Order: sequence, then C-alpha cells, then structure tokens
Amino acid sequence: MTRTIGIGVIGMGWMGMLHSQSYQQIPYLFADSDIEPHLVICADEVEARAQKAKRILGFERYSTDWRDVIADPDVQVVNITAPNNLHVEIVKAAAAAGKHIMCEKPVGRNPQETAEIEYAARQAGVLSFVGFNYRWAPLVQYTQQLIQEGKLGKLTHYRGRFFAMYGSNPNSVLSWRFQEDVAGLGTLGDLMSHVGDMAHMLVGPVKRLVASRETFIQKRPLATYGEGTHFTISTGGPQGEVTNEDYVGAMVEFENGTRGTFEVCRAIFGPKCEHAFEINGTQGAVSWNFEKMNELHAYLPDGTSGHDGYTQLYSGPEHPFHASINPGPAVALGYNDLKVIEAHQFLKSVAENKQGVPGFAEALAVAELQDAMIRSWESGTWEDVKSLRK
Ligand SMILES: NC(=O)c1ccc[n+]([C@@H]2O[C@H](COP(=O)([O-])OP(=O)(O)OC[C@H]3O[C@@H](n4cnc5c(N)ncnc54)[C@H](O)[C@@H]3O)[C@@H](O)[C@H]2O)c1
Repeated sequence: MTRTIGIGVIGMGWMGMLHSQSYQQIPYLFADSDIEPHLVICADEVEARAQKAKRILGFERYSTDWRDVIADPDVQVVNITAPNNLHVEIVKAAAAAGKHIMCEKPVGRNPQETAEIEYAARQAGVLSFVGFNYRWAPLVQYTQQLIQEGKLGKLTHYRGRFFAMYGSNPNSVLSWRFQEDVAGLGTLGDLMSHVGDMAHMLVGPVKRLVASRETFIQKRPLATYGEGTHFTISTGGPQGEVTNEDYVGAMVEFENGTRGTFEVCRAIFGPKCEHAFEINGTQGAVSWNFEKMNELHAYLPDGTSGHDGYTQLYSGPEHPFHASINPGPAVALGYNDLKVIEAHQFLKSVAENKQGVPGFAEALAVAELQDAMIRSWESGTWEDVKSLRK
C-alpha cells in the first residue's frame, strides 16, 4: 500500500535543494517500497531562496520562518539543512511537535549540542536520521560485507581521511563554515564527522586517541549575505577572521585492537574531495577514495602467490544499492545518488516506524570521538573516548 509522507525542508541552500530532489526520486528509483514523498513546505530566511525552491521543486508553500514548517499539520518529517547553529533549536521544536527528523551532520555545533539533540529526540520518541551519506556508496557497503564475512581476517590497521580543497585558496570566502559561532567546530565537525562515522561503521568504536589541530589560513574575504556557497571565491573586499580549525589529525586505538590514523583538512593543495580509507587485516586489505567512488582496490589472496596483489573492482549491480540507481556494471554513481539512497533509507524507517542507522545515536558516537580529540589537543596527551549520553 502506498504510504504518503509529508515533508518540510528548512534551509534551501546546497543541501536543502539536494535533499528535496532526492525525496522526489524515491517513487521511481525505489518503486518497490511504495513510498510517496510529498513536498509540503520549504523555509529559508532568504525569501528568494525559499520562493525559488517552491517554484522549481514543487513545494505547496514556502516561508521565511522555519517555525511554520514545524507547525504545518501536513508535515510528518522535518528535514534540517540550515547552518549548524540552528540545529539544536529546530530539533527540539520538531521533536516536541512529534515530527520525525532528518538532520545534516555534524548535527550539533559541538559534542555537547549533539548530546542535547540526541536526548531531545530520544525523550520525544521520534525517529532520526543523519546525513552521513558516504556510507551509502555501494563499494563502501561491499567493504562492510567483506569485513563482516571475515574476508579480511582480523583487522589490524585503519587509515581514514577527508582532504577537501574548499578552503585551500585564501580567497575562498568566509562562509559560515569558518565561523565558530555559526558552524561550531571547523573540520572536526565538518569533515571528521564523516571520517568518524565511516570508521565506526567499518571497524567499530575507538577506545583512545591523541589529536592535534591547526588553522593554516587565519583571515578570509567576507561572504555576501544570501549568495554563493562555501566554494565561492572573492578578491579585493574586506576580510574577517577564521575562528575554527582547518586541520585535525589523530592517532587512534579501536576497542577491537585495530590501530589507525584519522586526518582531515579543508585547506590542502592536491586532493579535491579525498574522503578515503585504507584497511588492512590479517588476510586481506581494501582501499577506497570518494574521488573515484566507483572503484575499490581489494587484496584478497587466494593462495596463488604468482598473481597476489590488489585487484581493481568497479561498482555494479552485485554491490548493495547500485541496481536501484542503474542496472549497469561500472555505470558510475555520483554524490547525489548517495543522497537519494540516504533519503530512501530514512523514509523507509519512517514508513516502518523503526529507528534507522545512522540516526542521532550514531551522531552521538561521533560527538564522543570529537570530544576526546578536543580534550587531547588541549592536554597534548592520549585521551579516552567517554560517553556523553544524557
Ligand atoms: N552530508 C554532506 O555531505 C554535507 C555537505 C554539505 C553540507 N552539509 C551540512 O548541511 C547543512 C547545510 O549546509 P549547506 O552547504 O547546504 O549550507 P548553505 O549555506 O548552502 O545553505 C544553508 C541555507 O540555510 C539558510 N538559512 C540560514 N539561516 C536560516 C534560518 N534562520 N531559517 C531558514 N533558513 C536559514 C541559508 O539562507 C541557506 O540557504 C550543514 O549542517 C552542513 O554541515 C552536509
């Protein structure tokens, strides 16, 4: 039986537009689940953005006040794609109104806010989902299968990183991401949240770590209100101060004994969007890089030493979720496809009234990792990962 789910979206920038389009694709890409998303209302404080989203995406109405989304009786699901400083207030209001919540990472501005958010949703008994979209790449899912089936043996090493170029040019504008009062943490929130979630999914929880941080570019040109993205470049205008970190690096020990490193940077030359991992076990190894997300390098020796070595696999219909997007082996998927898979996983959990993964519990686990990194860069020593659950 078709299940119609009323959706309200808050924040119609890059992610708000993409999440909305992703919901729209569910009925034909995931036809079997009989879910029919209904775009009810969108909100943005910049009226032109809300108006444009309504017009081109087909929302029934728009508002410049996000509270109208929460109050709308036709909305069952609130999608939060506004800047991080609004997440706590919006989640609390949505949870109090009994609405299910899709919230973009890093969820809170800092670990404490994420813990508050997780608590608010848990107390209200609403379902949550988080935009850790890289999980959904078919070859990442396949890597998880290989690990669970024991194909890599016992894991010994994990190296996770996210090197992005969006801040490598000193003239990349001072978007909200570089401002502590709006974004909260810098790359520890923006990029390390993805690295931490990926490592948790593939390897498991971290026991202890030692971390350091750096802000390589201290000042940037001011952004124009309501225009552009964090990829926008501007020259010649007034400058403002960057108030959170560009870089975080950590050495980690997982609870299962795996040793590893996590590294993230937004001001690095060379990699453009290198969200990558390398995993080594006692019987095999794999490596993956989002820049070539449809390729997996797998070392799965079969005892024939003459041709031992890494093999390059391409994403295809035999890997999880690929066939929902297209039926062809090596017919490449892209970033936006991961958002469609994510949107479907969320609405499926809503239709079944069953908490999905990753929800706020998984975001809290990442917040606990971030909390230990902050303590470590302050103390300069190893720190244990501790529970922040309220
Ligand atoms: N999962 C991912 O890969 C990924 C990628 C990018 C961004 N994000 C996350 O998505 C969220 C949004 O990021 P973005 O890149 O889309 O930002 P963006 O700046 O492109 O969009 C944010 C939008 O929110 C609007 N906004 C600001 N204040 C508002 C208010 N009071 N009420 C309603 N709307 C308001 C802005 O006008 C803007 O249109 C952030 O939490 C970010 O961390 C996740």
